[in-house]
Amino acid sequence: MAKVVLLPGDGIGPEILQEAKKVIHAVAKASQAEIDMQEYPIGGGAFDEFGAPLPQHTLEAAQKADAVLLAAVGGPKWDTLPGHQRPEKGLLELRKGLNAYANIRPVRCFSSLVGASTLRAEVVNNVDLVIIRELTGGVYFGEKKRWTEEQRFALDTLIYSEEEVRRIVKVGFETARQRRKHLTSVDKANVLDSSRMWREIVEEMKVDYPDVTVSHMLVDNCAMQLIRNPGQFDVVVTENMFGDILSDEASMLTGSIGMLPSASLGDQAGLYEPIHGSAPDIAGKGIANPCGIILSTAMMFRNSLGLSEYADKIEQAVNEILEEGYRTADLAGNDTDPSKILSTSAMGDRIVQKLVG
Ligand code: NAD
Ligand code: IPM
Ligand code: MN
Repeated sequence: MAKVVLLPGDGIGPEILQEAKKVIHAVAKASQAEIDMQEYPIGGGAFDEFGAPLPQHTLEAAQKADAVLLAAVGGPKWDTLPGHQRPEKGLLELRKGLNAYANIRPVRCFSSLVGASTLRAEVVNNVDLVIIRELTGGVYFGEKKRWTEEQRFALDTLIYSEEEVRRIVKVGFETARQRRKHLTSVDKANVLDSSRMWREIVEEMKVDYPDVTVSHMLVDNCAMQLIRNPGQFDVVVTENMFGDILSDEASMLTGSIGMLPSASLGDQAGLYEPIHGSAPDIAGKGIANPCGIILSTAMMFRNSLGLSEYADKIEQAVNEILEEGYRTADLAGNDTDPSKILSTSAMGDRIVQKLVG
């Protein structure tokens, strides 16, 4: 029996998780796999109820699970809490607690969504890249300090060890080897010592991957190149915060941030989550795009539950529904047939029908 821990979180989190659950039920039925799903609190709601954004029982359940599927955390209600009580801190503790250091963020533009991007079709046509983001180190986890309110000095430390860099760069090389064999290592080596060390390590490691071509790119240039010519990228490997920012940027190559899934892998249960947040501006309206979490569910079936055949089927079902012209509001444009603009749950239902049909 596979154990899946579900973490609905805040804002649109519960709305989109509902659709992922439909997909998991459908796959369980079709594959006859026994999947035990249990929901646990995380984020702002967990803070309100249990006084902590990652209650101990949630972390323990996640550590015992085969896979963890998280929707999103955060919201204005909790924005003035001190750092250690914020919903986002719960997510960071979960990533650390699972040692989920390798965050894989595939960026693929479905052919039917070429017109949904804010960029010209010829720029986003055939975009197929992967951002490998280091997830348990860097400035997110280095020493922090806030001096007195009056003085207004604050410190965040960007720190990496050789071991942390090596293990994520290895994921970058191995991923490139499975794909088009080009790795772009993104850093800020013209300014940061941590980036100069990162670059040295990539240079040392590349001798073990003679089949992979490597280039180094400064992060500011990368932000520009992603918009200018995204087709040049195959696998991008980078540190935690650069990867966070570049992946939100890259999501717009696919039409919407609501499309992007992710897998966070380490040596314990895999953690799967869409890259977007809790979208407080649309929460409760039933219009959020569930594709990001549904595609994250596909990654979960492939990477943690040994059901890659169903992962392929889920991705195909999403593609076909989009091909048929169905859209959630974030993907709709002037040329979208209004009768094909679906709510969150109607989109989930269509994808499930396609999957089982
Ligand atoms: P966001 O990703 O929540 O939203 C940015 C914009 O994208 C909003 O206009 C939103 O409506 C839209 N959007 C996001 N997901 C969508 C979806 N599935 N369908 C349609 N539209 C979607 O980022 P934000 O507004 O900067 O952050 C809101 C909160 O979410 C903050 O508290 C932040 O810390 C948190 N956050 C959480 C996660 C996570 O849980 N993994 C990730 C990012 C942000
Ligand atoms: C993401 C989010 C998180 C991050 C926040 C909510 C802590 O933006 O998953 O991309 O910065 O890692
Ligand atoms: Mn982010």
